[in-house]
Amino acid sequence: MIEFVYPEGATPIDLDESEELLLTHISTRAELDRWEQENIVEAIDWVERTKPTEILNEQFLRKLHKIMFGHVWRWAGHFRHSDKNIGEPWYQISTSLRNLCDDTQYQIINQIQAPDELAVRFHHHLVWIHAFPNGNGRHARLMTDTLLKNILKCKQFTWGSGNLRKSSDTRSIYINALRSADKGDYAKLRQFVRS
Ligand SMILES: Nc1ncnc2c1ncn2[C@@H]1O[C@H](COP(=O)(O)OP(=O)(O)OP(=O)(O)O)[C@@H](O)[C@H]1O
Ligand SMILES: [Mg+2]
Repeated sequence: MIEFVYPEGATPIDLDESEELLLTHISTRAELDRWEQENIVEAIDWVERTKPTEILNEQFLRKLHKIMFGHVWRWAGHFRHSDKNIGEPWYQISTSLRNLCDDTQYQIINQIQAPDELAVRFHHHLVWIHAFPNGNGRHARLMTDTLLKNILKCKQFTWGSGNLRKSSDTRSIYINALRSADKGDYAKLRQFVRS
């Protein structure tokens, strides 16, 4: 059994979720991180080739999570069935994701917000819904970069240009910026994503 040590703002993995690990030879958190990262590299390659019209829907959100974590976790691509310390009640996930995708689509078509502003709010909203047992941060960051590049035809975010996986100053700034966004203030997050 892996002893999980979490950086600030990470969602702890429940015991029953941790038993869903497909790679039974993994015994440390560092090994788990490495296997997840290798899996994610495949997903980055896959997502670059997707068409703009395929992206903004619930099915795609699930598929991307499945491709990012499918070699490592049995629950990859499946919504959570329990409540976490953050996030919507689990039974509202599907409806909330549909509303987020429809609203984002509407804003793009009607050019209601500048691309960066739209992407910042999309990222916060998606990670706030917290659709999956784990991997929500990485999934929401890759999804946001895909929105920027494939649909809005902009450069992807730099996300503080540091390592967000480990406890670090970059991670603290990111988590604090998300906490401000929880209260409706997006200024810090807006600044962070292009720093
Ligand atoms: N107060 C908050 N409001 C909104 N989002 C938050 C908040 N605190 C943390 N988060 C998000 O939740 C993520 C952690 O969730 P989870 O552990 O499911 O994702 P992860 O990809 O495994 O995380 P990470 O890569 O950041 O370790 C953080 O990366 C961040 O994006
Ligand atoms: Mg996590």
